[in-house]
Formats: sequence, C-alpha cells, structure tokens
Amino acid sequence: MMDSRIILFQRSALLFFLLWFHSAYGDLSYSFPEEMKRGSVIGNIAKDLGLQAGALSNRRARIDTDGTDKHYCDINLNNGELIVAERIDREGLCGEKASCILKQELVLENPLELHRISLHIQDINDNLPQFNEEMIKIEIRESAVRGARFVIEEAHDADVGQNSIQQYNLKKNDNFILAVTGNTLELVLDKELDREKQKDINLILTALDGGSPQRSGTVVIHVTVLDANDNAPVFSQAVYKASLPENSPLDTVVVTVSATDADEGVNGEVTYDFGHVTEDVKKVFNIDRKSGDIKVIGAVDFETTTSYEIRVKAKDGLGLSSYAKALIFITDVNDNAPVVTLKSMSNPIPEDTPPGTEVGIINVQDRDSEKNRQVRCSIQQNVPFKLVPSIKNYYSLVTTEQLDREVVSDYNITITVTDEGSPPLSSSKTVQLSVADINDNPPVFEEQSYSAYVTENNKPGATLCSVSARDPDWRQNGTVIYSLLAGEVNGAPVSSYLSVNGDTGVIHAVRSFDYEQFRSFKVQVVARDNGSPPLSSNVTVSVFISDVNDNSPQILYPASEGNSFMTELVPKAAHGGSLVSKVIAVDADSGQNAWLSYHIVKSTDPGLFSIGVHSGEIRTQRDISESDSMKQNLIVAVKDNGQPSLSATCAMYLLISDNLAEVPELKDISYDEKNSKLTSYLIIALVSVSTFFLTFITIILGVRFCRRRKPRLLFDGTVAIPSAYLPPNYADVDGTGTLRSTYNYDAYLTTGSRTSDFKFVTSYNDNTLPADQTLRKSLSDFADAFGECDSSAEQKPPNNDWRFTQGQRPGPSGPHMPYGTHIRWTPKSGTRATGGPEVAMGTGPWPQPPTEAEQLQALMAAANEVSEATATLGPGTMGLSTRYSPQFTLQHVPDYRQNVYIPGSTATLTSNPQQQQATAQQATQQALPPPQASAQAEPPKAVQTPASKKKSTKKEKK
Ligand SMILES: *[C@@H]1O[C@H](CO)[C@@H](O)[C@H](O)[C@H]1NC(C)=O
Ligand SMILES: *[C@@H]1O[C@H](CO)[C@@H](O)[C@H](O)[C@H]1NC(C)=O
Ligand SMILES: *[C@@H]1O[C@H](CO)[C@@H](O)[C@H](O)[C@H]1NC(C)=O
Repeated sequence: MMDSRIILFQRSALLFFLLWFHSAYGDLSYSFPEEMKRGSVIGNIAKDLGLQAGALSNRRARIDTDGTDKHYCDINLNNGELIVAERIDREGLCGEKASCILKQELVLENPLELHRISLHIQDINDNLPQFNEEMIKIEIRESAVRGARFVIEEAHDADVGQNSIQQYNLKKNDNFILAVTGNTLELVLDKELDREKQKDINLILTALDGGSPQRSGTVVIHVTVLDANDNAPVFSQAVYKASLPENSPLDTVVVTVSATDADEGVNGEVTYDFGHVTEDVKKVFNIDRKSGDIKVIGAVDFETTTSYEIRVKAKDGLGLSSYAKALIFITDVNDNAPVVTLKSMSNPIPEDTPPGTEVGIINVQDRDSEKNRQVRCSIQQNVPFKLVPSIKNYYSLVTTEQLDREVVSDYNITITVTDEGSPPLSSSKTVQLSVADINDNPPVFEEQSYSAYVTENNKPGATLCSVSARDPDWRQNGTVIYSLLAGEVNGAPVSSYLSVNGDTGVIHAVRSFDYEQFRSFKVQVVARDNGSPPLSSNVTVSVFISDVNDNSPQILYPASEGNSFMTELVPKAAHGGSLVSKVIAVDADSGQNAWLSYHIVKSTDPGLFSIGVHSGEIRTQRDISESDSMKQNLIVAVKDNGQPSLSATCAMYLLISDNLAEVPELKDISYDEKNSKLTSYLIIALVSVSTFFLTFITIILGVRFCRRRKPRLLFDGTVAIPSAYLPPNYADVDGTGTLRSTYNYDAYLTTGSRTSDFKFVTSYNDNTLPADQTLRKSLSDFADAFGECDSSAEQKPPNNDWRFTQGQRPGPSGPHMPYGTHIRWTPKSGTRATGGPEVAMGTGPWPQPPTEAEQLQALMAAANEVSEATATLGPGTMGLSTRYSPQFTLQHVPDYRQNVYIPGSTATLTSNPQQQQATAQQATQQALPPPQASAQAEPPKAVQTPASKKKSTKKEKK
C-alpha cells in the first residue's frame, strides 16, 4: 500500500513539472525519466516554438551542447521532435543530487536564434539498496545487558528520493531488535545472550527503497557470542555415596565426584576441593583437585568413625563454585581382637578353698561390631578352674577341685577369647594365681626309724647321727623343729644322754657312753612344724654303742704275782699232755676285744709245759722226769684280740711234787717276793674271810641239820660240794629254781661288764651283805691285785670309770640302781640277740670268750682256792691239784660248745622247755668244731655289721 502511495506521489509530481516547463517562455524545458531508449521522443520543439515543420530544416536547427561534448538528444528536423540520442543515467550524471538538469542549446539560423533547452532528468528506481559487505561480523559478550546497542553500517542506494532506502527490516530473532534513528542503524539487545545456548547468531537485515517496484538489499549479521563466566560448575550428583572397608590402604579411591562448567576456557576449568570439613576428615581423606577422586590418606577405623559426610566444592577458574556432599560409610572389618580384662582376682587363694569358689571376674570386649563382636571364651584344660558366664561380657573364674599347694603352688591360667569374624581373631591373657599355704602337712621323717652307731668312750658332744623330716608346707608351716620326746632311759631323763639340734636334727651325745654299761637304747625324736596349730610326728632313734677294746684282760686265776699260795702241784707221775692248771682270764669287752689268747712268755724249763692258746690250759708236754727241777715258774701273757690288743701277764708257780710236805722251799717261793707286807695283809684278810666262811658254813650246816635237809645252800654250797666245781649253773641246769633264777637274773645284769663281776658277787650275797661295802672292798682288793700284774706296754690306761667309786659311776650299773630296772630295760626276749658282736663268735675259730658264767666259775674257783688254802694254812692247794689231774680234765674244763648261754640268742637259762629246746638247737647250729691244737689261730671272720645285726633281729622277732 505504501508502495502504491509513493508511486501516486511521483506521477502527480511529474505532471506538475511538465506543466511548469510548458509555461516557461523562451527556454524550452523538458522533463523525462532517465534511461530512456535512444530515439525516444522527449517533446516537439517545433510546436513548442510555433514553427512550421519545414521551417526547422530551413533554418538549420541544431542542438549545441553547452560546453560538453556529449549529445544526449537530437532534433528530428522533419517533425521537430526532440529525441534521446544517448543513454542518460541520472545517477551517472548527477549522483545524489536531488534534481538533475542537463542544459542543451537549440540553434536556429535564419534568424539565428538560440533557445535553451533544459532537460530535467527524472530518477527511476534502477538501483538496489546495497550493504558494504555481504556479512557483517560482530562479537557480543554474553554478559551484555538488555538494551545494549550495537551500531550496524547502513546500506546505500544510488537512487534518490523515493527510490532511495526507505526502510530496513531485521528478520525476526530471539535476541535483537533493530533501531533506526535517521541514518543510524543499531541492533538493540532485547534479550540477553547465552553463549552456552547459542554461540553464534545470524541475523538477516534487509534494506528496502521506496521505488516501484521496490527493491531491497540484504546482509547477514553474524553475531558471535563471547563467553562470560556466568556458569558455576555443576555436580553430577548432589550426594555421592560410597562405602569403604576400614583399614583400606592409602590411595584407595573411595568415590570420584565430578562437576561440569558450561563456561569455556578458564571459566570452565573446574577444580575440586573440600568444603568446610573437620580436621579429622582432612587427616583421612583427600580430594584430587583435577580429577575429583576422593582418596584415603590416613587410617580408616570403623571403631572410631562409622561414616563421613564431606562437603565437596567445585570451582571454576574465575571463582564460581558449587557444592555437593559425599557420604562415605565405613564398613567393619574384623580387625580388633577381643580383649580380656581381669576385673578382680583373689590372689593368693588358700589351698583349702572349697571347689566352686569364685576367685576372679573377667570381662571380655571386642570393639568390632556384629559377628566380629561375638566372642567365645575358654580356659586351658589342665587346671582346676573353669569359666562361668555371668552377666553380659562378664565371666567368673571358679575352682573346680580341691587345691593342694604342695602339689601345685601357682597356676598360670590362660584365658583365650575368639571372635566369630572371618578370619576369627583371638587373644589370650594369662592370669597368675598363687595358692596360699595352710598348715595341712605334718613333718614326715625321711626314714621310718633311725639308728645311730657310736663307739664307746665317745667324747661328750659327739655327733651320733642326724634325723631329718620334711614338711612340704610353706615357711613356718613347713619349718621343722626337732626335739627329744621327754622320757627316761635307764631311769635317767633322755636329755642326759642325747641332745638334738632343733634346727638341723643332728643328734649329739651328751656324755660318754660305756658299752660295758649298756649297749643300746632308744629315744623318740619329735619333728614339729611352726604352724598354728603345729603338726608333729615322731620317730624312734636307736642308739647302738659298739665296743672298744678299752678293757685289758683280767686274770682271775691264778691271782697276780706275789700270791704264793697260787702254786699248783704237779704230780711227779704226770704224763705228757696232762692238764696241770688253767689260767683263767676275763675281758670286760666283748667280741673280738674279749677273745683271749694265752701264751707262755717265760718259763723255767721251756720244753716242759705248754699252754692252750685259747683254753689257757697248762699241760705237760712230756712226762715229768726226775731230773726236772721241782720248782717251775711260768709267766703267762693273756692278750685280747682287740685293735690294739691289750694284755695282762701273771706268774704261775708249779711244784713238781706228790706231796706238799716235800717242798720245804715252798715258803721261800712265797716269801721270795718283795712285797711281803702287802702279802701279809692279804693273808690276814684271807684268813679272816676264811674264818668267816667256816663259821658261816658251820652255822648253815647246823641250821640245815636242825631243819629238814635242804637240798641247796646259797653261795657256799659250792664250797660244800667239791664236785660242784663243775659249775652248777652250766651242767646243773635243772637244779632248783632259786639258784637258777638268781643266776639268770644276774647273767643279764653283768653281761660283758667288768664291774658286773663284782656285782654278781654282791647280788649273790644280796640277802646277807650290804652291797655297797662289799663291793667297794672287793673292788679295791682286786684293783690292788691287778695293779701288780704286769700289764703289757700296749695296755690302755685304765678307763676313767675305774676312778669312780661304784656310786659315782654313771649309768644303771651303779650299785644304787635297783636291779629290777635292768630287767625292765633289757627285755628277756630279743635284746640279747641284738646285743653285741658276740653274735659272730659262733662262726669264728675262736672259742667263746669267757662269759659271765665263766667268770663266775673262775671266781668261785678262786674263792674255793682261797678258802682251802686258808683252811690248811699252807701254801698250795692239794685239792685243786688233784682235780687238775688228767682224768679230771674233761670235767674241769667247761665245754664251751655245750654252753647253754648262746650269744646272740634270746635264751639263756630259762625254765621254758620250749625255749630251751630252741636254744639247744641254736647252740648246735652255732657249735664250733673243737679248738684246734695248733697255736696259730685263724683270723676271726668279719664281725657282723650293724645292718646284718638288725636283720637278724628282725628275723628273730618274727
Ligand atoms: C607362670 O608363668 C611365670 C612367668 O611367665 C613362670 O615364671 C612360671 O614358672 C609359670 N608357672 C607355671 C606353674 O607354669
Ligand atoms: C600357715 O598356715 C595357716 C593356716 O593353717 C595360714 O593361716 C598361714 O597363712 C600359713 N602361713 C604361711 C606362711 O603360709
Ligand atoms: C608318735 O607317733 C605315733 C604314730 O606315729 C603316735 O601314735 C604317737 O602318739 C606319737 N607320740 C607322741 C608323743 O606324739
């Protein structure tokens, strides 16, 4: 519609111009559009000038150009029309001038006339609007705000007026509108740009002119949207979740976060970081700035933290950032072994704790969770304890058996706990538990009984043996103290014999022992512990005293030198081998120490007499001849078999005569001796004793006759019955009870003891004599007598005991001791068996040593001798000599083998027929072959050891 209006306007304008030119005079003016074809008629000059058609040619009309060479138009002379001679381009001629007038002159000749012709060239729309470039490039930052203007170079149109550019059109688009102000053309940002949405925008701009037909020109505006950091990075997820096993190794990637930024370049470069997180998180995790990997850099421990919430930040190059959350859940791994804790413990526990007592409380913990937290608790097998589950994680440690500290004094209890994880973890704890002592064990002696062996004459204080008891209890409960159980031995308190060291159990002799007094005794030693109350036990200690050769032989017959009446008569008719006399000696010792041997050390006629080495019998070696000296002196040495051996000597005076009266020198023999004073005293003493005897005998005889005849007298019976030199106590066993029992009684008392010889006498006369006096007297008598004996150089100094009076002598053998005590002390059965070394006698080549019996025999012989000598008041003893005649020999010499007293056996002369039988049997068993004639004695066989003695004792007891 607009176009049409413009066209309308152009037509009316053209009409106006044409009319105006017509009205002008003189000059010709024509208006016509440009670009008319050549020959096109512009107007009719002839007419316009009022000339005839032919006139023009006549007048030679022509068009002259006004200074220009170009003829744009010509005149048709024929008809006078003005025509286009040349292309007329208005734009070429006038450019942008609004009016374009070409000046032409018409020259007429005849008259020369000049007419100006103005040619008004009218524009036609023959040019397009045109832009400078085909494409306009502009760059706009996306951050440009709405309303921003961007100038665009306008288009050009060579036409003018209506035909020039009238309007612009911008093709519809999202962002821009066009603003035209005058000639200025601007793009106005109507909606903000987003590079991220559209990076490049092409706008098409059209310029339109007002011609008809309308023409247009188009240009493309290429808008490049420049980036602005208008986008923050964007995470792919708002929350990232991951689970991570605890204890994962370092650098484990837990989760990768990722964010994108729509911007480009620096603006789009995203870096990651933690947002605000705690220090703990920073120690455990780290995020890679570039990749967004969240990695482990520290220890991940479920037991400390089960999950982490981490704020993650993503940032672009220019600082826009955004956040996301990473949730990391830690999963449990069985990495914690269960832990045993001892909560309480009674330690030590007394050993009398009853089974089932709770002694400790144990707690078990596992820091892991669920299955990894389930625990099983156990204890090792071989201990008397068990675990009893208590509340929750608690267990009680309970005893299952009676404890015994003496067996196991402390326990290492190992408690093992295992969880149920896979693999399971376990741990153990060892609890040390001590058992406290209770005094439940008495001391126990190491042996059932103890024996101590001590040789007599020991030093007081000597160690005898030691006892030892053990008590397994602890400290004072097991400390053993030894003591002697109070009691009596032979009537004296035990403590006067022995003492025991309370700490060591060593037993000491308190005094010196004398084998000849007693051979053994027993004491009880108590071992007591120090507990409260104390426990104790006791043991028997048997002390055996062994013999030492401390007694030299005592020669009972003949009495020592100087007693001239100990002269023997030897019948002149005696044949070789006749028994002449016998040396009788005893030794208070026992065993080998009491085994005596007899030797002639000096004799008047060495070839005439010999002495039996063991028997002491002096026999003629050959028949006595007339030439033999009447007086024969022999010095006989008696030696015991001890080590060293002791000896004694005596002199034997022999008279070869059939009649004492034949020997006038007899007195000389007796008075030869120097010590006549003593001899006379002795004679006086003997005379008085003999007188006493005689009177006593007559009294007894008188009494005997007066009363009914009594079969036996006491001691003097021996004297009264000459044949009784065969000792009644040997052969006449079946005699009356009185004698036998008395003997029996004393045989025990006097065993092996020198002093007991005298006691024997005493006891025999017990009813009639005060024991003390008699003893002392006889003791001194004998002591004197022995003093004159030649003791060999080896002879020991007399035992200390000899210096005591009987009363002072310690021990039960003192005369003040009631003999009854002895009997009690020496049981009839058994004791003898265990007694001394006599046991060995039956097995050796030696004859039995003189026993008490023999000593008794000897004593009686001596007494007989004395009484007879006294009775005749002369030296020599005819009666005896006759008894020593060869035919008497057998009777006179006691057959030791038939001796009823059997050493080492229990039996002596007892009335028990059974026992006698046994005794007899034993006697035969132990019987010796007759002593060998050869003087060389075989060495005695080994003396029985104490041990074997003990054995035999036991056997006997059975
Ligand atoms: C108990 O353990 C201790 C120390 O390890 C050790 O000396 C002791 O001999 C152990 N006791 C037992 C009864 O095993
Ligand atoms: C000894 O045993 C008693 C209980 O008979 C006890 O009380 C005491 O503690 C024990 N002594 C020692 C040192 O063990
Ligand atoms: C000695 O021990 C025995 C058992 O061995 C016992 O019967 C006796 O009573 C004890 N004697 C004393 C005094 O303890």
